Amino acid sequence: MIFLNFIKTTLAISALTLSTTILTSIANANSDVEVMHWWTSGGEAAAIKVLQKDLASKDVNWKDMPVAGGGGSDAMTVLRARITAGNPPTAAQMLGFDITDWAKSTGKLGNLNAVAEKEDWDKVVPAALQKFSKYEGKWIAAPVNVHSSNWVWVNKKALDDAGGKAPTTWEELLTVLDKMKANGITPLAHGGQPWQDATLFDAVVLSMGDDFYKKAMIDLDPETLGGETMVKAFERMAALRSYVDDNFSGRDWSLASSMVIEGKAGMQMMGDWAKGEFIKADKKPGEDFVCIRFPGTQGAVTFNSDQFVMFDVGDQSEAQMKMASAVMNPVFQSAFNVVKGSAPARTDVPNDAFDDCGKKAMADLAEASKNNRLFGSMAHGHAVPASIKNAIYDVVTAHFNGEFDSKTAAEELEAAVFASK
Ligand code: BGC
Repeated sequence: MIFLNFIKTTLAISALTLSTTILTSIANANSDVEVMHWWTSGGEAAAIKVLQKDLASKDVNWKDMPVAGGGGSDAMTVLRARITAGNPPTAAQMLGFDITDWAKSTGKLGNLNAVAEKEDWDKVVPAALQKFSKYEGKWIAAPVNVHSSNWVWVNKKALDDAGGKAPTTWEELLTVLDKMKANGITPLAHGGQPWQDATLFDAVVLSMGDDFYKKAMIDLDPETLGGETMVKAFERMAALRSYVDDNFSGRDWSLASSMVIEGKAGMQMMGDWAKGEFIKADKKPGEDFVCIRFPGTQGAVTFNSDQFVMFDVGDQSEAQMKMASAVMNPVFQSAFNVVKGSAPARTDVPNDAFDDCGKKAMADLAEASKNNRLFGSMAHGHAVPASIKNAIYDVVTAHFNGEFDSKTAAEELEAAVFASK
């Protein structure tokens, strides 16, 4: 009898333990967010920690799904495979047209309206971002930042050794690059990957004039794409190519940043995620490095915004809403973007915590937006959909690697864009 009672009690305890375990794991699964992103460099990983910690404090459990590869092209390939297999992540980092294209083609994106309305996102997120965060009246993504691609990051000592004056025109830029070369360093740190070549191209095209950028990269006007000014833009690209070291091919963008941080190279032309690397290496703007707009583009901005898109994954919608709300919190947006190198996606975040480059980023954005000089970055998915962007990448990279002369490149660009539309 005693033995029978013992068995009964043991079974009851086991059943209780089992059901508690099941309940706990269901609860955990519901508070999990599997987040796909391409933030794998030192500065990016530091920024993502800020987000993970914030979510942990709200009982949202981060399941990491990193896909290395600057600019996110590789991440988009992996995402496509997951969606095709019917197994999307809970949330994914995405850029511009990729967001609205997925909304159109899958119809499987979550609806964040409940939280967006409660928190008045309509009022604090600029229209240029809302264009991508909303689809058919629904908020489908939460924007975490605004980056811009027309920046140059200059090693301060290398600049001082080259005369000390930050270049403001194309001619001054060439003079500084020549001096850096004469001083025995690599003038321009660059990684030969299509998205990095395209990032340079954003800035070079913008340096030929706002109208030119708009007509070429946004309106895709054939005459502009294949015309004389485009030939000149490609000539500028070829000129920049001559300041890059021999080992540039395939180099990761953050390694190019390190070359500038260490003074092995003079400057890098890259979006302000590069600043995240300088900050991570404990470098200070004005002392160790200088941030300037690509010469000839002052006052104008080619922007891109990282947004978290939520997929319709049923159970986790509560965690998704918590994550969306956390991402949009103004205190969080300050803490995150200080580390990431970007500006907040909301217009009501104070700039106090930001360094001088961050303050400049925020001021430049406001000014460019006021003066109609804010343009979506082609390289980072905010000017044209991915199919056209990739066609532009191909021509720009082929030219950068010497496959086409500048005249042929302009003709190829016009043809490639036409074929991809
Ligand atoms: C993203 C940044 C990222 C960069 C390099 C850009 O497209 O907007 O957040 O740091 O790519 O990977």
